[in-house]
Amino acid sequence: MNLFKNPRKLFLTLGLLTAMSPVLAQSEASKQSDPVQHGQVLFDKYGCYQCHGMVGQGGVGPAIGVNLWPYVAVSIYVRNPTGDMPPFSEKILSDADLRDIYAFLSAQPAPKSPDSIPLLPKPVLKNSK
Ligand code: HEC
Repeated sequence: MNLFKNPRKLFLTLGLLTAMSPVLAQSEASKQSDPVQHGQVLFDKYGCYQCHGMVGQGGVGPAIGVNLWPYVAVSIYVRNPTGDMPPFSEKILSDADLRDIYAFLSAQPAPKSPDSIPLLPKPVLKNSK
């Protein structure tokens, strides 16, 4: 089949390729080797950021980057949440993708101590003489 001799087939092929490009781009993304970077992409893709903030710092949902639960606990909760969080079954979010999201969350630096912010008032200790 020579596509260039048959413009209709050429356009159909181009249309098909264009329609498939998100799929191709997606499989390209899952080939990324760095789990942290891939996890960041997935944290956006699955919409975790909408409730938990861009780096898991918290928003409508709680902060999850700090004091991150062990992986098993996160995986159980994400699949069977008991509160307002929507469930993400394995069909929607694979274990491999959840592991990369976990790697991304684990890679977040610990927040600075409030003591390092000079403008914050120092706590007054009661009962101290
Ligand atoms: C629609 C908002 C929403 C989205 C989207 C969402 N969450 Fe949540 N998540 C919550 C809320 C709210 C809680 C607090 C408990 C509850 O009400 O279910 C929570 C709790 C959690 C917890 C338990 C946390 C803790 O430390 O207290 C984890 C872990 C978590 N979410 C991870 C994720 C991941 C990973 C994603 C993306 C795959 C995600 N969430 C997407 C709203 C959301």
